Amino acid sequence: MKTHMPNTISGFSKLSKSEKIEWLLETYFTEKDNARALVERYWNADDKLQKLHDEFIENTISNYYLPLGIAPNFLINDSTLAIPMAIEESSVVAAASKAAKFWLQRGGFKAKVLSTEKIGQVHFIYQGDTKKLEAFFKHVKPKLLSDTASITQSMERRGGGILDIKLRNKSADLPNYYQLHATFETMDAMGANFINTCLEQFAATFKSEALLYEAFNDQEKAINIVMSILSNYVPECLVHAEVSCKIEDLKSKDIPHPMEFAQKFKQAVDIAKVEPYRAVTHNKGIMNGIDAVVLATGNDFRAIEAGVHAYAAKDGTYTSLTHCSIENGIFKFWIEIPLALGTVGGLTSIHPLVKFALEMLQKPTAKALMQIVAVAGLAQNFGAVKSLTTTGIQEGHMKMHLMNILNQFEATETEKSQLIAHFKTNVVSHSSVVEAIENLRQ
Ligand code: MEV
Repeated sequence: MKTHMPNTISGFSKLSKSEKIEWLLETYFTEKDNARALVERYWNADDKLQKLHDEFIENTISNYYLPLGIAPNFLINDSTLAIPMAIEESSVVAAASKAAKFWLQRGGFKAKVLSTEKIGQVHFIYQGDTKKLEAFFKHVKPKLLSDTASITQSMERRGGGILDIKLRNKSADLPNYYQLHATFETMDAMGANFINTCLEQFAATFKSEALLYEAFNDQEKAINIVMSILSNYVPECLVHAEVSCKIEDLKSKDIPHPMEFAQKFKQAVDIAKVEPYRAVTHNKGIMNGIDAVVLATGNDFRAIEAGVHAYAAKDGTYTSLTHCSIENGIFKFWIEIPLALGTVGGLTSIHPLVKFALEMLQKPTAKALMQIVAVAGLAQNFGAVKSLTTTGIQEGHMKMHLMNILNQFEATETEKSQLIAHFKTNVVSHSSVVEAIENLRQ
């Protein structure tokens, strides 16, 4: 029986953009003209650019802007970079810039890529003798590789390709469950398409060759491929970034007592190591920096988030991604995280602002981008933990938030400068800002 549910539509994707918008307005909006005007106000006047964005996804009706900010003065190894950050949260870019400047005067950030291996798996069900499956895998492995030769050719020319394929017996965890666990080197590409294409070919070859394998009985021949997909968990695609200096060199306007600061800072990091409630927020602050750069450089921040958090829990308890030591009078603060990033393919050559961001970063290789992103995360965490253990974050945060409240009340430029001056010496809270606006407007 076919019933028509209210507010549903079939064939939506086939409608033109304006038909989609009209359907949406008719179905869900009362102030249709206002809603239509808003959606259209966010269109780009350049039709070609708009079409490009429309075609990134399906059913596009408009653009959703995020600010693109710049955090300059990042000394990373021997380069000084301005880092692009796409993020909506006030004070993130300011904190990154401040941390960059702080460490610029103390030797800068040192970063190093430790490994670059990516992973993909073919998950399958096999009902039969494991020894026979192992023998079959040995027999079919050369064919798995030769059948993907045309896929891997250009990646191999660039120095990458398939590193290895292993058979894994997971039947102790789930009855009859096995995997082909493959490792890849994808050079400057994030590699998702390359890996998934290889995996689907492995699956096809594996299944068809099983049917021909004489030692298998009928049940064993009927290997059931469940899925073939890369893993966003990449614990062997690791980057390390650090800062260090003599404790007395930490002294600055905000840090009058460097030893006291260093000890409290280390305590805060150690708390995040043992207390998951704190670790999640601590790492969230790291991801403020990481996601913003990942997004600005056209990479997949969901993949990065998933992989990084899995890494934070790799030893069975969710813990801090950063570490701190005080030894022989030296303060050292570092991060070690998995980052599967690309600087070719995907959005990197299509989105004009991504190209701009990569050019700003001096067209980095994927390895160089891993270092930059890890540094952004470390700097962000340094800024957050420094504020938390000294002034608290609300002071800086509310100063930045002041602008959001002023915009919410549509303050004029004159009102803004008067109120910013007023709040230089007064505590910012939502109610205090509202009160100050009202007083000013009376
Ligand atoms: C806010 O976006 C991030 C912080 O909460 C991070 C932290 O607590 O370390 C400030």
